[in-house]
This record gives sequence, C-alpha cells and structure tokens, in this order.
Amino acid sequence: MTILVTGGAGFIGGNFVLDWLAGCDELLINVDKLTYAGNLGTLKSLDGDLRHIFIRADIGDRDALSRLFAEHQPRAVINFAAESHVDRSITGPGEFIQTNVVGTFNLLESVRGYWNELAADEKAAFRFLHVSTDEVYGTLAADDPAFAETKAFEPNSPYSASKAASDHLVRAWHHTYGLPVLTTNCSNNYGPYHFPEKLIPLVILNALAGKALPIYGDGQQIRDWLFVKDHCSAIRRVLEAGKVGETYNVGGWNEKANLDVVKTICSLLDELQPKADGKPYVEQITYVTDRPGHDRRYAIDARKLERELGWKPAETFESGIRKTVEWYLGNQDWVSNVTSGAYREWVSAQYGA
Ligand code: NAD
Ligand code: TYD
Repeated sequence: MTILVTGGAGFIGGNFVLDWLAGCDELLINVDKLTYAGNLGTLKSLDGDLRHIFIRADIGDRDALSRLFAEHQPRAVINFAAESHVDRSITGPGEFIQTNVVGTFNLLESVRGYWNELAADEKAAFRFLHVSTDEVYGTLAADDPAFAETKAFEPNSPYSASKAASDHLVRAWHHTYGLPVLTTNCSNNYGPYHFPEKLIPLVILNALAGKALPIYGDGQQIRDWLFVKDHCSAIRRVLEAGKVGETYNVGGWNEKANLDVVKTICSLLDELQPKADGKPYVEQITYVTDRPGHDRRYAIDARKLERELGWKPAETFESGIRKTVEWYLGNQDWVSNVTSGAYREWVSAQYGA
C-alpha cells in the first residue's frame, strides 16, 4: 500500500510525514516543489528510510504527477502543497493563484486521469484529501458563533481567496466526476518545524535574538490555535473514516488574542531561557502598522469531527505552546539552517534551481 503526499517538506506536511511513518510501514511518496517554505531538514531523520521517497515536483506539472501515479499506484493522495503565508499573498498574490488555484486544478486532473483507470474496488477505496484552512470562511465579530462547515465562504485575503477557490474545485471534481474527495478546514497551527516568518516561531526567534516582537495593529485579533500533531491526527482520522464528499472543520477550541500569545511565549522564555540582563522578554514587544484587510477573529466549531469520527485534540494551548518553545530552544540547528540561506544553496546545488 502507498500514499502520496504533496507539500510534505513544509510545516504541516513535514510533521504529517514524520507522524505517519512513526505509526505505519506503508510507502509514502512525498512530492514537493521546495519553495522557500519547503525544507528537507525537517525530514532528516528519514534519510535512508526506504518507506519514504522524496520527489521534487510542482503539483501543477501534470505529466510529472501522472507518471508518479502510474508508477506508484497510491491508494490516497493528501494535498498539503500550497502557498500559505497571508503577508506574502498581499505583497505577491500571483504565486498563490498559480499554486493554490491552477496547481490544485492540474493536480485534480492528474488524479482524475489515474483514478479513472483503476479497477472498480480500487476506485471505490481511493481518496483525495485536500487540506484547507478556516480562513476561507472570512472573519468573525466578537460575539459571532464559531465557523461551522455550513458557513458561507467569505475569504478576505489573496491567500484565503485562493484556498477557497481550491476547495470549490475539489468539491466540483467530486460532484461532477465522482472523484472520492475529503476536505479539512483547520485553524491556525503551531509546533515544531514552523517556518520562522509566521507569528509564533518569529516571536520565539526574535525574542532570543534580542529583536523587536512586532504586533500588528492593536494585537487584539483572535486566532484559534491547534498544535500541529493534533492536525495530523485529525487528517489521519478523516482519511480513515471520513465520508466521501464531506468537509470537516479541525480546531482545538483555543481562541487567543495575538498579544496574549506573544506574552505567553515571553513568559515561557523568561522561565526556560532568562535573559542575561534579567529583563523580561515582553519589553521587546513593538506595535507596528496593521496588515491590510486583517481578519479580526477566527474560531472553529469542530464538533462534527468529534461527533462523527470521534476525534479530539490531545494538547491544550498551554501544553502545546510549552512543547513548541522547548522544541525551538532545542533545535537551533534546524533554525539556523533555514534562516542562514545555506539550505537554499544546497537546494540549488542539488536540483539546479
Ligand atoms: P508551508 O508553506 O509550510 O508548506 C507548503 C509546502 O508546499 C512547502 O513545502 C512548499 O515547498 C510546498 N509547495 C508550495 N508550492 C508547491 C507546488 N506548486 N508544488 C508542490 N509543492 C509546493 O504550509 P503549511 O503551513 O505546512 O500548510 C500546509 C497546508 O495546510 C496548506 O494547504 C495550508 O493552506 C493549510 N493550512 C495551514 C495552516 C497553518 O496554520 N499553517 C492552517 C490550516 C490549513
Ligand atoms: P500568521 O502567523 O501570519 O498567520 P495567519 O495570518 O494565517 O493567521 O499570523 C497570525 C496572527 O498574528 C495574525 O493575526 C497576524 C499576526 N501577526 C503579528 O501581529 N505580527 C507578526 O509579525 C506576524 C507574522 C503576524
């Protein structure tokens, strides 16, 4: 048996690959373009592991993907590959449309071509699981109920609009062609191997480097945080038992204002790695200009996943954020590899681009 994962060198995909292979011996084909966000250092522990085959390819490359499907005959495809950073989508939306919309379309077409040729029993058992975000639902006022799966899509950033488009394509490929799809819409993830331009790793690393901790606007925007390994367990559960054609929200009931998240990280660092001068890290907080179109609040209602598939997160925000800070303190090699540019040089030498 074989599964094929796209974007498996990224933050969530990388954690998923490690978790998957820690728990089963199925062959895993990992297809990733290795953009700035993809990092094979995350998968170093799999060097020499014959259960993991890494292939550098773009999900938009239909020929390459079709060849891979024909060669490896996966029973499932899990699509993590995406451009994922809201701020980058504001400064340069083109790549987001290219990968998240056009790339997903091409991937769906490659998958459909492969799936159409399968024997009837394999066709029925096949799954295409599309990993998406709560950001497709838009933004909430303070007293609005959390996003349910029935909430209309109202994406506000180029990132969330491109993900919403991809979700719609996946849905249409099921309704029109019968492709057996599943979609998950998850809240903000945090944890090990998170690229240090997102809020939580950025704050940990800036704090340690004595740099400013930038808070956009008033810092009262709310995100619903989920430890990445809980997201991985939810995806495994949906893949195993989700109803074809359905979408499942994934969240941890951990709504926090950004300023509170940053203050929590500061006090953990005060405890785990106090500054030489004895000053608290919180003094490094700096208020900066707000993000254009900044969504005020996200909150996920994950009761469907709990009710129908029995999934629950294992971590609270308090336990997960402590593990995350400890991980960054203990894995400076991974961090310096990502931030020094040495890794990009290695990718160029290895793949010629
Ligand atoms: P990430 O940016 O860390 O990783 C994305 C990976 O996809 C990278 O390894 C990158 O090299 C690869 N990639 C990008 N374009 C590609 C292409 N055209 N072809 C092949 N590979 C390509 O993102 P992440 O945080 O791991 O997110 C993974 C998925 O989960 C995304 O679809 C994202 O929308 C979704 N998601 C993320 C969060 C979050 O908080 N990070 C929350 C909910 C959903
Ligand atoms: P981010 O990690 O970029 O995730 P997303 O935009 O997908 O939610 O940002 C999380 C929140 O933190 C978001 O409200 C923007 C805010 N933020 C800051 O205040 N300062 C920063 O330096 C960054 C990167 C984000």
